[in-house]
Amino acid sequence: MFDLIIRNANLPDGRSGVDIAVMGATIAAVGVRIDATAREEIDATGRLVTPPFIDPHFHMDATLSLGLPRMNRSGTLLEGIALWGELRPTLTREALVERALRYCDLAVTQGLLAVRTHVDTSDPRLVTIEAMIEVRERVKPYLDLQIVAFPQDGYFRAPEGVAAFNRALDMGADIVGGIPHFERTMEEGRLSVEALCRIAADRGLPVDMHCDETDDPLSRHVETLAQQTVRFGLQGRVAGSHLTSMHSMDNYYVSKLIPLIAEAGMNVIPNPLINIMLQGRHDSYPKRRGMTRVKELMEAGINVSFGHDCVMDPWYSMGQGDMLEVGHMAIHVAQMASMEDKSRIFDALTVNSARTMGLQGYGLEKGCNADLVILQARDPAEALRLKPVRLAVIRRGRVIARTAPQIGQLFLEGRPAEIDGGRDFAPKI
Ligand code: FE2
Repeated sequence: MFDLIIRNANLPDGRSGVDIAVMGATIAAVGVRIDATAREEIDATGRLVTPPFIDPHFHMDATLSLGLPRMNRSGTLLEGIALWGELRPTLTREALVERALRYCDLAVTQGLLAVRTHVDTSDPRLVTIEAMIEVRERVKPYLDLQIVAFPQDGYFRAPEGVAAFNRALDMGADIVGGIPHFERTMEEGRLSVEALCRIAADRGLPVDMHCDETDDPLSRHVETLAQQTVRFGLQGRVAGSHLTSMHSMDNYYVSKLIPLIAEAGMNVIPNPLINIMLQGRHDSYPKRRGMTRVKELMEAGINVSFGHDCVMDPWYSMGQGDMLEVGHMAIHVAQMASMEDKSRIFDALTVNSARTMGLQGYGLEKGCNADLVILQARDPAEALRLKPVRLAVIRRGRVIARTAPQIGQLFLEGRPAEIDGGRDFAPKI
């Protein structure tokens, strides 16, 4: 007898009518019509069952702070950074923890069970790091939180930036961050990449940098990051977040750069919602989209995963912890709307981001963690179209969140009484 069986599931790879049996915290069997009983059974009724959504790029120390101490009037990245600088001295550990826990509650109901957060180290009080380390411990039973030490005001540029950064790592941050395009000069940016990769090599940590988050085609720190990755033997442990300058780069240069990124085994993390909102701000018309070259990077075999980046903070006044909203935007901005493309985008919200974060036991095979999400949609393409309700969210074999299906009632003569948002419209392709 199993602890739990989910019956009649559609899987992201296209298999349908599949049962998933769970024993304790682990998937014990996956197959068509498992002939066994369980203490609890859930009928997925032909809906999509997926491993959880994973967000590899977020700012948990800033989330839900919208309006504090004021709104971002211009809406630009730079005013956002300035506004965050105003808020930062007033931050308390209690308020940071409370907001982060509230965001994690929201994330869980959205089936988002692992988040990599960049945490600002620019204020030498490091109350941000202290608070996020507390949150990492408190959410551990239901959400994996990775902490990137992130020198928001510049590793070299911020007063006491270097010392505070190193202390954040000593306190227990998991990953080395960086922001080379925000250092004072291109040269200091390059030197920061080198110094930070050296720290990662010495401490045996991964690297995840905000890199070239600008429309300037000559912002080429990603090249240095790839080179230093190889130099320090960090292949597979390095992520370049944003890489928006690649959108504006010369095509010849990119044809040389992408193979270099592939050779270095770098992970790439675009943030479609924030990129489309913040890039192109110095353009009149036409306005550039600013997102990096997702399709070309994927075609070169590079691991691309998408981040949410911001929810209700100085940079972005929207968001709801829904990684399908992120994927939905990616489809539009990258113009990737074929069935194959949608499948690749769904992977970029799930398996690719699990790989970026180095999560163990992620997946739908026997022996994987019993971490599962049942959606009110029948396949990944429909999930991306509808951003549907997460009917059940399961962590290590236990249901930790449920949401009632969205059923519209109709009161029209000769028309159906109910519309199941998940299934009634889509033609079978
Ligand atoms: Fe970010």
